[in-house]
Amino acid sequence: DYLVWLEEVDSTQDVLKSFEFPFGTVVVAKRQRKGRGRQGREWHSQEGGLYFSFLLNSEEFKEVPPLPLVIGLAVCNYLIELGFYPSIKWVNDVYLKGKKVCGVLVEKQKEKLICGVGFNVNQETLPPEAISLYMVDGVKRDLRKTLSSLLDHIDKSLEEFKSSGFSPFKDRIEERLMFLGQEVILMTEPPTVGILKGLSEDGSLILQTSKGDVKVISGDITLRP
Ligand code: BTN
Repeated sequence: DYLVWLEEVDSTQDVLKSFEFPFGTVVVAKRQRKGRGRQGREWHSQEGGLYFSFLLNSEEFKEVPPLPLVIGLAVCNYLIELGFYPSIKWVNDVYLKGKKVCGVLVEKQKEKLICGVGFNVNQETLPPEAISLYMVDGVKRDLRKTLSSLLDHIDKSLEEFKSSGFSPFKDRIEERLMFLGQEVILMTEPPTVGILKGLSEDGSLILQTSKGDVKVISGDITLRP
């Protein structure tokens, strides 16, 4: 597979959208000028973090919505190997010590699935809701080695997801799920309050509300204050 390292770019997502690369291509940038997250949010992309996107063929996947969870679990497996205790904040985020260490963004363009990962590795300072590995253990890491190990984990998870679907992942992700059994607010209009019961077979979230169990396919959850 192709690996493209760039010094600086607006967004690695856009590189894969604007040019024709073969499936499997990975684009990495040291910095992004316009790194973005879900729902038009900005993704801080100063030097020190790992910012990459890779291209998948949507026709190879029976189910697309659980992809961020599958990628998030792969990031967790990598972090566990390093001795960390990560959790998954449904549906796109990986957390360490209650702060965001990694975000996943999956965008679709015709048959292309453009999967972006922002991973806080060596940054010394970040906004209060975010954390880097360096901020946890004081170790500066080689970004190339980090990327290569991370991609091994992601490949492995994606192969299993392609052949077996989401069901083998459900329990493994639930084990790491943030707010499990707790009362959360889903930021819908109006907001929905419920107890986070777990995942359903397709990776959607099950909330137990006053009107019964509700299946949620997207949205942001926070702990009820
Ligand atoms: C989120 O937390 O909402 C997802 C963040 C995804 C950030 C990555 S960094 C590499 C790729 N390029 C982007 O502009 N965004 C993704």
